[in-house]
Amino acid sequence: MTRAIDQSDPVVAKALRDESRRQQDQIELIASENIVSRAVLDALGHEITNKTLEGYPGARFHGGGQHVDVVEQAAIDRACALFDCGYANVQPHSGSQANLAVFFALLTPGDKVLSLDLAAGGHLSHGLGANLSGRWFEAHHYGVTRDTGVIEYDAVEARAREVRPKLLIAGGSAYPRWIDFARMAQIAQSVGAYFMVDMAHFAGLVAGGAHPSPLPHADIVTCTTTKTLRGPRGGMILAKDAGWSKKLQSSVFPGVQSSLHTQVLAAKAVCLKEASEPAFKTYASQIVENARALAEALSAGGVDIVSGGTDTHIVLLDLSRLNLLGREAEALLDRANITSNKNPVPFDVSNPAKWSGLRLGVAAATTRGFSTDDFRSLGAMIAGLLTAEEGAREHQVATAREEVARLCAAYPIHEDQ
Ligand SMILES: Cc1ncc(COP(=O)(O)O)c(C=O)c1O
Repeated sequence: MTRAIDQSDPVVAKALRDESRRQQDQIELIASENIVSRAVLDALGHEITNKTLEGYPGARFHGGGQHVDVVEQAAIDRACALFDCGYANVQPHSGSQANLAVFFALLTPGDKVLSLDLAAGGHLSHGLGANLSGRWFEAHHYGVTRDTGVIEYDAVEARAREVRPKLLIAGGSAYPRWIDFARMAQIAQSVGAYFMVDMAHFAGLVAGGAHPSPLPHADIVTCTTTKTLRGPRGGMILAKDAGWSKKLQSSVFPGVQSSLHTQVLAAKAVCLKEASEPAFKTYASQIVENARALAEALSAGGVDIVSGGTDTHIVLLDLSRLNLLGREAEALLDRANITSNKNPVPFDVSNPAKWSGLRLGVAAATTRGFSTDDFRSLGAMIAGLLTAEEGAREHQVATAREEVARLCAAYPIHEDQ
């Protein structure tokens, strides 16, 4: 019980050390990742994890919850202040759980849901057939316009009139542009649907004032505390007023979850405090500038960008013209110590092995301190890798690895690295 992990479990200890090293030595461009602060890590590793609790502050099903109550209430108050809203549930164990709880609160199995198509940037928890959301509810989708890659709201409205959903969802995991929340709310209202926004990806940008907030427009907003919000792995549900509170409280607990992940709750509270500090505003606007710099450099280097650019932290590459598959590009970048993920592009095939997109995100490297100039050179480097002739690729990979090593050394993640 008292031995440190190095002594008690050398296998896991080594994997943890290797993972720290990997994070230090690679440039992380997976859009859903970030690098959390030492304070968030402290909370995650705290013995508060030993505490089992169900229920809500002041109304628990177990004793000894007085300190967790302080933590949870702080997280709730901070979320409400940060997002200027009247209701926050900070308990969902993940973004998918948050979405599931909203489905549970608003719908009955078989009800119709209208959400962004997966290939157009949607998320699997918004009605994919293989997910419970698509299995138990009748999911329909809207997409983006083929030539622009952006949502065309008249088309969403036409689709909503045709489908007549009970729930309209905006937001996704690879849509790089701002969404017109007011227009979407009006569409939902015109067909008598509830309107939910899943801001999992851009919550940190909203918190930092670098992205419009969906809260004035949506009935309910869900998000993760990972990604741009730079917190632990977990979810939240927000609403502009307390009108939904009773339904949402009971749909999270006992609806889809039981006991709290108390250590994550503490880390959420810490991350929400960090996101309300002035430095986070600077961080959020730096993310947007860095993503634009990356998109411009890639475009100048001959790589097609879905929607022609970005308003967020996401840059989605369409590799079809380069005759490369997303998985091949992911593997190529990996050899240069740049981490990314294959992704569908709008109107893509459903087989992940054949997807033509690569999704990049700048939140993690921006946390390390990468500047717009760094992202410009990174964009040129990635374009060089992706457009290189077969014979020149080895040389490009070797040059890129050297430049990546230089950048990683210039921006250590923690002081001891
Ligand atoms: C838009 C969106 N919603 C929900 C989720 C699910 O979050 P989790 O992985 O925490 O379940 C994600 C995850 O990437 C996401 O991008």
